[in-house]
This record gives sequence, C-alpha cells and structure tokens, in this order.
Amino acid sequence: MGGCARSNPLLIPLFFSFSFYPLAFCKLSSPQLAVMRNLRKKIQSPELSWNSTEDPCKWNRVTCSQDNTSVIELSLSGLSLASPDTLPVICQIGSLQVLDLSDNQLASLPVEFITSCGKIDGLKRLNFSSNALVGSLPSFTGFAGLEFLDLSYNKMNRNIGSELDGLVKLRSLNLSLNMFNGPVPVKLSRALEELQLWANGFEGEIPEGVANYQNLKTLDLSQNQLSWSIPDRLGELPKLEVLVLSSNNLSGKIPNSLANIQTLSRFSANQNNFNCSIPNVLTRFLKNLDLSYNKLSGTIPPDLLSPPNLQIVDLSYNQLGGAIPKNISSHMFRLRLGSNSLNGPIPSDSLGSLEKLTYLELDNNSLTGSVHPELGKCRSLALLNLAQNKLTGPLPPELGNLSSIQVMKLQLNKISGNIPDQITQLASLAQLNISYNLLSGTIPSSLPNLQNLTALHLQNNYLNCSIPAAIRSLRGLLELQLGKNHLSGDIPTMPLSLQIVLNLSSNLFVGAIPANFSQLTNLEILDLSDNQFSGSVPESFTQMPALTQLILSKNLLSGVLPKFRDLVKVETDGNKGLTNGTAPSPSPKRKRKSVPEPLLTALVSSVFAALVVSAVVNISIEKFLWRR
Ligand SMILES: *[C@@H]1O[C@H](CO)[C@@H](O)[C@H](O)[C@H]1NC(C)=O
Ligand SMILES: *[C@@H]1O[C@H](CO)[C@@H](O)[C@H](O)[C@H]1NC(C)=O
Ligand SMILES: *[C@@H]1O[C@H](CO)[C@@H](O)[C@H](O)[C@H]1NC(C)=O
Ligand SMILES: *[C@@H]1O[C@H](CO)[C@@H](O)[C@H](O)[C@H]1NC(C)=O
Ligand SMILES: *[C@@H]1O[C@H](CO)[C@@H](O)[C@H](O)[C@H]1NC(C)=O
Ligand SMILES: *[C@@H]1O[C@H](CO)[C@@H](O)[C@H](O)[C@H]1NC(C)=O
Ligand SMILES: *[C@@H]1O[C@H](CO)[C@@H](O)[C@H](O)[C@H]1NC(C)=O
Ligand SMILES: *[C@@H]1O[C@H](CO)[C@@H](O)[C@H](O)[C@H]1NC(C)=O
Ligand SMILES: *[C@@H]1O[C@H](CO)[C@@H](O)[C@H](O)[C@H]1NC(C)=O
Ligand SMILES: *[C@@H]1O[C@H](CO)[C@@H](O)[C@H](O)[C@H]1NC(C)=O
Ligand SMILES: *[C@@H]1O[C@H](CO)[C@@H](O)[C@H](O)[C@H]1NC(C)=O
Ligand SMILES: *[C@@H]1O[C@H](CO)[C@@H](O)[C@H](O)[C@H]1NC(C)=O
Repeated sequence: MGGCARSNPLLIPLFFSFSFYPLAFCKLSSPQLAVMRNLRKKIQSPELSWNSTEDPCKWNRVTCSQDNTSVIELSLSGLSLASPDTLPVICQIGSLQVLDLSDNQLASLPVEFITSCGKIDGLKRLNFSSNALVGSLPSFTGFAGLEFLDLSYNKMNRNIGSELDGLVKLRSLNLSLNMFNGPVPVKLSRALEELQLWANGFEGEIPEGVANYQNLKTLDLSQNQLSWSIPDRLGELPKLEVLVLSSNNLSGKIPNSLANIQTLSRFSANQNNFNCSIPNVLTRFLKNLDLSYNKLSGTIPPDLLSPPNLQIVDLSYNQLGGAIPKNISSHMFRLRLGSNSLNGPIPSDSLGSLEKLTYLELDNNSLTGSVHPELGKCRSLALLNLAQNKLTGPLPPELGNLSSIQVMKLQLNKISGNIPDQITQLASLAQLNISYNLLSGTIPSSLPNLQNLTALHLQNNYLNCSIPAAIRSLRGLLELQLGKNHLSGDIPTMPLSLQIVLNLSSNLFVGAIPANFSQLTNLEILDLSDNQFSGSVPESFTQMPALTQLILSKNLLSGVLPKFRDLVKVETDGNKGLTNGTAPSPSPKRKRKSVPEPLLTALVSSVFAALVVSAVVNISIEKFLWRR
C-alpha cells in the first residue's frame, strides 16, 4: 500500500524533499498534513511516537477515515497538556469527529476554540473530563453535530443558563464533579439520553421540565443541594433506566408514578429526608432500590420485595416498622433492612429459595423468633448480620451449610442453647460474632476447622468448661474475645497470630497466669481481669514487644509487679497481694528501655495487619455499595 515511507534508509534522500511531495507519501490532504505537523511541533510527549513516520494516519492516538484522506479522531488524553494554544490548531481539522482531551491540565476553553471547533459540523464527541477548567461555562455556539460533551471532574462554577441550549444533537452531557450551582438546566436538547450532574452545588427543586427530556435513560443528580419533593412528572420519562438522587435534601413523598416506568432498573435516593411511607408498587420493574438513610416510616409494603427482577434492596437506617414481607424475590442478591424498627420473625417461607442471596443485613431491629433453619439453604450467603435484635431459641445446625459465609454477626440477641459443632464446618468464615447472647455448653473442640477465622467473639454468654486445646491451630486469629463466660480449667497455648486482643476476663480461671502468653509477640491487649489467677505476674510479660495494655485487675495475684515499658498501660487494682515494686527506685532494669524501635515497628505492622483484615472484609461488603 502507498502509505508514507517508514524510516527506510533507501528512502532517506527523499525525506529532504518531502515537503514538496507530501501526497507521494500520504493520502491526507496537504492542509491537514500541515496542521498535523504543526500539532506535532506543539505537543511534545514521550507518549507520542509521532516522529517515527511522516504519515499522521500511522501516528498513535490519531484515527483517520477509512480511506486515509482525513483525520477523524484525536485521543490526546493524559499528556499533561496545559496550554490552550493547541486547541485552535486542532480545530483546523475540519473532518474531526472525536476529540478526547481528558486527563490533562487545561485551565480554560478559549474563545478561539469555541469559534473554530464550533464550525466543525461533524464533531460528535468532546471530552475535557479531568482537567483544570475553572470559571463559568462558555457559550457553545455552533457545534451543530455535537452528541457527547464531557466536562466532568473540573472546577467550573456558577449557574448554567443558555450556554448549552444550542447543542441540538446532544445525547450525553456530563458536568459531574464541578462546582456548578443554581437550578438544574431544563432547556437542553430533547435528544438527551444521559444527564450526569452529580457532585455539584445544584439547588432548588428538581424542575418538572426534566420530564421533557423524553429520551433520557440516565439521570444522576446525586450529591447536590436539591430540596423539596420529586416531581410526579419524572414518571413520564418512558426510557429512564437509572435514576440517582442520593445525597440531597429531598423530602416528602416518593411519587407512585416512578413505578410506571417499565425500563427503570435502578432507583437510588439514599441520604435524603424522605419521611413518608414507601409506595407499594415502587419495585415493580426495578432491579436495584436504595432508600437507605432517610426518615421513611410506615411498614414495608407486602409486595415491595417480591418482584422477580429485584436483586438489591437497601432500606437501612430509616424508621420502618412492622414485619419483613414474606414474599422475597428469588433473585435477591443483597437485602439490607438494618437499623429500622422492624419486628416479627425473619420470614422463613421464602428464605429456602433465596439461592442467590449473598448479603443479608437485618441488624439493629426488634426481630423476634428464632434463627430459622431455612437460612441454611441460602447457599450464597457471604454476610449474615442479624445482630442487635430480639432473637431467641437455639442456633440451628443448618447454619453449618452456609459454605460461602465470611461474616456471621448474631451478637446482642437472646440466642440460647449450645454452639452447634456444625458451625465449625464454615471454612470461609473470617468473623464470627455470637457475643452477648445466652449461649451455654462448651466451645466446640472442632473450632480449629475454621482456618480462615480472624475474629472470634464469644464474650458475654454462659459458656463453660475449658478452652479447647486445639485453638492454637487457628493460625490467622487476630482477636479472641471470651470474656464474661463460665470458662475454667487449663488455658491452652494460644495462636501466635493473636494481635488485637486476647480477652479472658470475667471467667473462672484459677492458678498461675500461663507464662507462655509472652510468646504472643504481636499481641497488643491482654485482659485477664476478674478471674482467680494467683501467683506472680510473669517477668517475661515485660518483653512482649507489641503489648500496650495489660489488665490484671480483680485477681488473687501477689508478689512484685515487674517493670513494664512506659508505653504499656498496666491495671492491677483489686489484687491484694500485688505490690508495685518499681515505684520507689528507678530500677536497674533500665536497659529494657532500648526496645522502643522494634516495638514501634511491631505496633505499626500489627495495627496495619488488623486494618488490612478489616479492610478485606469491608471491601468485599462495600463492593456492592454504590459509589455514593
Ligand atoms: C520529534 O522531533 C522533533 C523535531 O525534530 C524533536 O524536537 C522532538 O524532540 C522529537 N520528539 C520525540 C518524542 O522524539
Ligand atoms: C489506511 O492506513 C492504515 C494505517 O496505516 C492502513 O492499515 C490501511 O490499509 C490504509 N487504508 C487505505 C485505504 O489506504
Ligand atoms: C472521557 O474520558 C474519560 C477517561 O479519560 C472516560 O472515562 C469517559 O468515559 C470519557 N467520556 C465520554 C463521554 O466518552
Ligand atoms: C460522563 O458521563 C457519561 C454519560 O453517562 C459517561 O459515558 C462518561 O463515562 C462519564 N465520564 C466520566 C469521566 O466518568
Ligand atoms: C432542605 O429542604 C427544606 C424543604 O424541604 C428546606 O426548608 C431547607 O432549608 C433545606 N435545607 C437545606 C440545607 O437546603
Ligand atoms: C414529613 O415532614 C413534613 C415536613 O417536615 C411534615 O409536615 C409531615 O407531617 C411529615 N410526614 C410524616 C409522615 O412524618
Ligand atoms: C410472590 O410474589 C410473586 C411476584 O410478585 C408472585 O407471583 C407470587 O405469587 C407471590 N407468592 C406468594 C406466595 O405470595
Ligand atoms: C440503630 O438504629 C437506630 C435507628 O435507625 C440508629 O439511630 C442507630 O444509630 C443504630 N445503631 C447502630 C449501632 O447502628
Ligand atoms: C444442612 O445441615 C443439616 C444439619 O447439619 C444436615 O442434616 C443437612 O443434610 C444439610 N442440608 C443440606 C442440603 O446439605
Ligand atoms: C481463606 O482466605 C483466603 C485469603 O483470604 C482465601 O483465598 C481462601 O479462599 C479462603 N478459604 C476459604 C475456604 O474460603
Ligand atoms: C462483636 O460484637 C460486639 C458486641 O456488639 C462488638 O463490640 C464487636 O465490635 C463485634 N465485633 C465484630 C468483629 O463483629
Ligand atoms: C507503678 O509505679 C510506677 C511509678 O510510680 C507508675 O508509673 C505505675 O503506673 C505504677 N503501676 C501500677 C500498675 O500501678
């Protein structure tokens, strides 16, 4: 093919005269060739390989028409361009259809850009996202063919008046993450399909005129200061698929009319002030509903959770009362109803068929009844949070069938009976919190099967007998909370991984404090208070490099308390025989003070590890939260 010459040595002589024979190498018109060479001079970047050949159609980030006679696309994203001088040069390419200047450092759109690029009727797509644009919108005159305008992630401000009204072909407008204020513009092109205005300062009502954008598929007005209620007329948008109104100051009623939009699949209006009840049919066509963090009251309508398309529902942090509806969509993936005033039982009828349910959060309500065995059929569950309710009865062995579960939180209920051995089949379990219940019996000796366990909370129950010796093989355990039970007997070797806390307080332990606790070199807090430990405090504890808190109160300890580093907070009250020998004389054990550096490292790394673990768990949960 007759493209431009590569840097073939045979052709080098020709290069000396290439400017006289441009068309011998390129099919590009000579004016365009001149413009492209001028551009090459103006834009210097190691990202561009524009010197390697004389044919601009072969340059990277340049796209030509199929016959190579004209440049139609320039993708100049991420080149640190700061000078607006290049813009008018680019606009000399009359055949340009797509101009991507995103992720640069342009601070303004000069008048010359508007006048020259505005004349290019074929220009369809302009992308200035992630630049440093400031000030108010320029008036876009011309641009008769512009379909996509992306000015998101800049610092533009002021009201939007008629600056964009002339863009009659506009299908997609993105002004998100700027500082625009005033009312939401309603005189834009009727062709508009996507309107992204999130994270600005738009204020006042959502104008009824938005309903005139009859082709709208996506409307995102979240993170603004919009007030009053949602206009009924939004229900007249026949093609709307995504409606996001989160993080505003909207209040009043959620219009029934939204339930008429057959195409609507996602509706998010979380973090507003809606104080009404939820319209009955709202979810008729939805896949995803988020109304969390409002003041919604009344009950959850009986059919709200049942439409078969429904996958994600978040109604947490409202004031909803009554029972959880019985009929739940078999496609439900995530159901969050926590922090309301819901009562009655966990609906067991449909639970058995919720094979896709991955996140179930019903915590901080007033749910009664038992943890139903049917829950064991929700095979996909990764997170089960029923904490802080009024659940009674035993833990069903069927929970052992939740083979994907990572986090199980059942604390702060009135669950009684034994801990079923089957719970130790949960190989993926990372956090088990069944603290603050009425559980009795022993800690299952098969506990070490939980190889992924990082946090075990069994405190404030009535567990008795001894801690199973095999606990030491929980090799990832960071936090062990066994306080306030009736545990006794020999204390086994603890997992060396322990970091956050080992709490054995308020149990029935007697005898000497196990000196081998000092092998827990990552442990930060050791709480042995309120037992009947006797004898002296092991000297070796002073060498635990990560220890910050040692709680020995209310025991029968005696002897002289060894000298700990200043950073370690030691509590010894309520041990009649124990004296603080270090008090009077600044003892000879001074040399221990030379440990602070490893101590600091250990502290930092253990805190970091703990953060990572909780972050991992949180990330897997947060993944399914929307970006705001
Ligand atoms: C391309 O050539 C020009 C002019 O010869 C030169 O100034 C520039 O550094 C070269 N750019 C690259 C990336 O090689
Ligand atoms: C246009 O240029 C490209 C890239 O150099 C080449 O692959 C293609 O064959 C050329 N097409 C025509 C019609 O010349
Ligand atoms: C603009 O560019 C950014 C990345 O640089 C991209 O994410 C965005 O989708 C583009 N906008 C349009 C409308 O194509
Ligand atoms: C701006 O919004 C448009 C339309 O939704 C979208 O295609 C584009 O990717 C968004 N831009 C960025 C940078 O996300
Ligand atoms: C929130 O909206 C109410 C009206 O619904 C209004 O009275 C109040 O001033 C608004 N608050 C803010 C901070 O805009
Ligand atoms: C919702 O708030 C408005 C204004 O504050 C108030 O008039 C109305 O009674 C409230 N409705 C409910 C159901 O609480
Ligand atoms: C549950 O809801 C679905 C869809 O709304 C409906 O078809 C089904 O009959 C309901 N089932 C029961 C047991 O009410
Ligand atoms: C429990 O729910 C109430 C009511 O929604 C809320 O105010 C409170 O913060 C919640 N508590 C927790 C621990 O989330
Ligand atoms: C679920 O667990 C129970 C009790 O542990 C067991 O009897 C039953 O076979 C399990 N069900 C299935 C479907 O695996
Ligand atoms: C245990 O955790 C590791 C790391 O997070 C993960 O790769 C592994 O799949 C988990 N094991 C099970 C049985 O879930
Ligand atoms: C377990 O529940 C207790 C009591 O509410 C709480 O203090 C603790 O933070 C919870 N821990 C985990 C890991 O869930
Ligand atoms: C022991 O005495 C030292 C020096 O007075 C004091 O700093 C430390 O807090 C005391 N320790 C306890 C556990 O009372």
